[in-house]
Amino acid sequence: MRAGILTGGGDCPGLNAVIRAVTRRLHTNGWNVSGVRAGWRGLVDNRLEELGPREISGILPRGGTIIGTSRTNPFKLDGGVDAVLRNFADNSLDALVAIGGEDTLGVAARLHAEHGFPVVGVPKTIDNDLSGTDYTFGFDTAVWVCTEAIDRLHTTAESHNRVMVVEVMGRHTGWIAVMSGIAGGADVILIPEHPVTVEDACSEITRRHARGKDFSIVVVSEGYELTYASGEQRQVTQEAALDAFGHVRFGGVGDELSREIEERTGYETRVTVLGHVQRGGSPTPRDRVLATRYGLRAADLVLSSSWGQMAALRGDAIVDVSLQEATAELKTVPPDWYDVAQAFFG
Ligand code: F6P
Repeated sequence: MRAGILTGGGDCPGLNAVIRAVTRRLHTNGWNVSGVRAGWRGLVDNRLEELGPREISGILPRGGTIIGTSRTNPFKLDGGVDAVLRNFADNSLDALVAIGGEDTLGVAARLHAEHGFPVVGVPKTIDNDLSGTDYTFGFDTAVWVCTEAIDRLHTTAESHNRVMVVEVMGRHTGWIAVMSGIAGGADVILIPEHPVTVEDACSEITRRHARGKDFSIVVVSEGYELTYASGEQRQVTQEAALDAFGHVRFGGVGDELSREIEERTGYETRVTVLGHVQRGGSPTPRDRVLATRYGLRAADLVLSSSWGQMAALRGDAIVDVSLQEATAELKTVPPDWYDVAQAFFG
């Protein structure tokens, strides 16, 4: 028997830990494993490679993915789905483990629903916005990177009496902003789900200064739309073009926000965009352990032919959920989490 593994979408710390765990458990059970190069692209173009014990040795702490990734959507390519099905059969694959977020797993769910494709999923994304699981792996590392950056910005903000705006990732949701903002003691946190106005954000900063604090830290999620008391909302993107899954490329809201804050409050303001630093490097111990548990469960799903299922975390337990459920809608930051953040505004 032979299984393929692919990693799709943005890379994420912990991908290699999943690859190692899936491969180890399947080898133990007498299966062979092929790495599919660059996500769904590898099944469209027929680029697969053997994953033996040597390939997975020493990869647990390594960031990125040893088999590469891409944002390829076979449903958007002429003959893409046929190529996936053909190459899957030609390589004598019996199962596929898809490691990805809403887009990659959305393709997996559709292939399973429409073609009975034997696929199981593992929830990956630093954004933590996938339903059906409490946490995706990679999120903890991103939050750690952002918190460390906020800590460093605190000391320089304090020395110069400046407002520091920190722009973090999170395409549709503010999980990274809220968690790192709470952990780093941010004075204002702006996220897409709870659009506080620019005017209110500036009032919080002014209120803080009025009680003797001469510096402020503002964390803004890249997907936050600049929102004004008038009701106007403005999305800031790098380019209007959409990718194969219909997403714009975010980036730049921090810059615009810092200009607004400086103009409206009169306080000197600087911006730091953390960007892909959040996705790079070695996973935290928590992400290594979570990724390993997910990988073992995904292999068990393969061994029991539980197609269309995804490994998920509920509380402290690893459970299975259907790919349909996991990809039906995004998991946004609930109001009670934002309340925790807001308790420390101003
Ligand atoms: O979905 C993960 C993510 O890191 C988002 O937070 C971000 O908007 C996007 O990927 C960036 O993608 P790319 O690597 O294509 O610039």
